[in-house]
Amino acid sequence: MTRELDGKIAFVTGSGRGLGRMMAQKLAEAGADIVLHDLSWEATAKYGEAANLGEVVETFRQMGVRAMGVTGNIGDKDAVARMKAEIEQELGEVEILVNCAGGDIGAAGGKPNPNNALDISLEDIQTLTNNNLIGTMLVTQAFVPPMVRAGRGSVINIASAAAHLGCSPEVVYSTLKAAVVHYTRCLAKELYEQGVRINAVSPGPTKTARFQATRVVDPAKMDSGARSFNRYAEPEEIGDAVAFLASPRAKFINGQVLRVDGGLTLFPG
Ligand SMILES: NC(=O)c1ccc[n+]([C@@H]2O[C@H](COP(=O)([O-])OP(=O)(O)OC[C@H]3O[C@@H](n4cnc5c(N)ncnc54)[C@H](O)[C@@H]3O)[C@@H](O)[C@H]2O)c1
Repeated sequence: MTRELDGKIAFVTGSGRGLGRMMAQKLAEAGADIVLHDLSWEATAKYGEAANLGEVVETFRQMGVRAMGVTGNIGDKDAVARMKAEIEQELGEVEILVNCAGGDIGAAGGKPNPNNALDISLEDIQTLTNNNLIGTMLVTQAFVPPMVRAGRGSVINIASAAAHLGCSPEVVYSTLKAAVVHYTRCLAKELYEQGVRINAVSPGPTKTARFQATRVVDPAKMDSGARSFNRYAEPEEIGDAVAFLASPRAKFINGQVLRVDGGLTLFPG
């Protein structure tokens, strides 16, 4: 049986764990070959989700798709160039790019503290900017030109519900995610006639291992079977949105932001 992403190569940054891994899984279930990525081979183990990136790659191979792993800091241009060369040598040119790596993780490896506008340290501002905005831009600059040459491709940038609301704390993170949303629109404008679609997904708070390890979780919002939409998302609910935007079913959807948050950020426009 032919699946809708058979023969396509998808690169999901930050897919060694958390939401990125689930997005990669959904793309693989649709038939795509997958490039798994993380900061290091061990980063997948930080919240207990896998021993290392190699173990994650193996689970994808067992799904019957081609899969490989690459590691490196997305905010480091040389590392991005090296990863691109490794991918093209082993699998070929990427046709689906999901810029997922990021998060509200500061220089010391946890949430910045303080994390408000007036007190957050310059070091944390720079780390957050590197992880959430510069990295997305560098990976895009490296991987989108071959898509333009081929006249086809799909990029999905992962923003956040926090991009659409005034937030404090998490001020810098929210600001950077808002920038990711606007970058999505500007890039879609730049490539409007080139056959490459650029969209964003803004997840609401989602039950990843990191999410649960780095904050006080509200037990009332944990039940995904609840009737109420005032709950945390399941990673699968975000992964399904990404797989849809990557698919031919979304072939005329371009420059859009899909907010997958149960209605948390309701506003017109
Ligand atoms: N979980 C949520 O509630 C939620 C909500 C909205 C948006 N998001 C966004 O979804 C994405 C994934 O979040 P998650 O909850 O799965 O977190 P996570 O920490 O489990 O996953 C993030 C991944 O990105 C990698 N990463 C971060 N900075 C990197 C860098 N500079 N270079 C290479 N890799 C880097 C991490 O190592 C990790 O694998 C993030 O962009 C986050 O901001 C998450």
